[in-house]
Amino acid sequence: MKAITVEPKKPGSARYEDFPEPDVREGSVLVEAVAVGVCGTDVEIVEGKYGWAPPGKTRLVLGHESLGRVIDPGPSSSFKAGDLVVGIVRRPDPVPCPNCAVGEWDMCTNGQYTERGIKEIHGFMSEHWRSEPEYLIKVDPSLGILGVLLEPMTVITKAIEQVFLAGQRAYWEPKTVLVTGAGPIGLLAALRFSVRALQVHVLDRAETGLKPDLVRALGATYHTGRISDLDFDPDIIVECTGVGAVIADSIKKIGSGGIICLTGIGAGGTGAGAVADVAAAVVLKNNLIVGSVNANKRHWYRAGQNLIHSDPAWLSRLITRREKPENFKTALERQPDDVKTIIQFSDV
Ligand code: BGC
Repeated sequence: MKAITVEPKKPGSARYEDFPEPDVREGSVLVEAVAVGVCGTDVEIVEGKYGWAPPGKTRLVLGHESLGRVIDPGPSSSFKAGDLVVGIVRRPDPVPCPNCAVGEWDMCTNGQYTERGIKEIHGFMSEHWRSEPEYLIKVDPSLGILGVLLEPMTVITKAIEQVFLAGQRAYWEPKTVLVTGAGPIGLLAALRFSVRALQVHVLDRAETGLKPDLVRALGATYHTGRISDLDFDPDIIVECTGVGAVIADSIKKIGSGGIICLTGIGAGGTGAGAVADVAAAVVLKNNLIVGSVNANKRHWYRAGQNLIHSDPAWLSRLITRREKPENFKTALERQPDDVKTIIQFSDV
């Protein structure tokens, strides 16, 4: 079969190549790939900045935002041939740490978790892949290709859960939410907040085009420019850019008692100079900064429900580009109006 593989930490090593069929030890359910979404983490892995091959191997099959069709459900699963499924990304650490022991692998505390297409387990950018039945989520057939948005929806489902759980620390009546970054995660955050009684604002660099249109279609307000120029102090900020300056501005801008949820994974910055100022703002306003990564089964289930109850026409506008696997390099290059690019392996 063909697969898109990479030698982690080696820039420019990605290729579309012949690759052995997945081993039955990788799971009893055999799946044919339909599509795989591309995200910033994939770009980082291809640039040699992130990622780990399986133990004893040099190459990793890329891809963690899957959608596939069951070919062979194996001897012990409730799946049927033809079912649309998505594979869960993270596996618990083997120790296990207390969080992995209770199924909260997204909160793994010892860092020994593994992640498909990212950390030590092959991903989903191959014509066929396998999974253990317990790490497969059945996708409602009515979603069709939109099932490829399930993984990013899990990330935001967890992040929003964390915000409201954290909000229980004191009496809290949030009214305004700011989402920074109108990529797929930011737009899905705006979508999910728009179904609550909150005023939703999204800030991004794009001045025109699809992103402002998608935000306004939710009844939310779109902003460009600097966070410091906004004429309100948000009660919640969901930070989806990972850019140091945006994070620092968010922390300075958040309202009293407000919660900032960081979801972006950036790197570098301008040093520690401003950290004390930023921390002072957090202290004086009783703010809470919550980091949120990955998702456990509870979030995967809820994210599936969230997708089913969203407007399919709006969701389908998020998929702005479909590329063939052999054109994966083009898929990984960001173009101005891109929201979510998917690599399509077969028809849904
Ligand atoms: C994925 C998460 C993963 C994280 C860190 C993100 O792109 O969506 O599942 O935990 O990267 O590796």
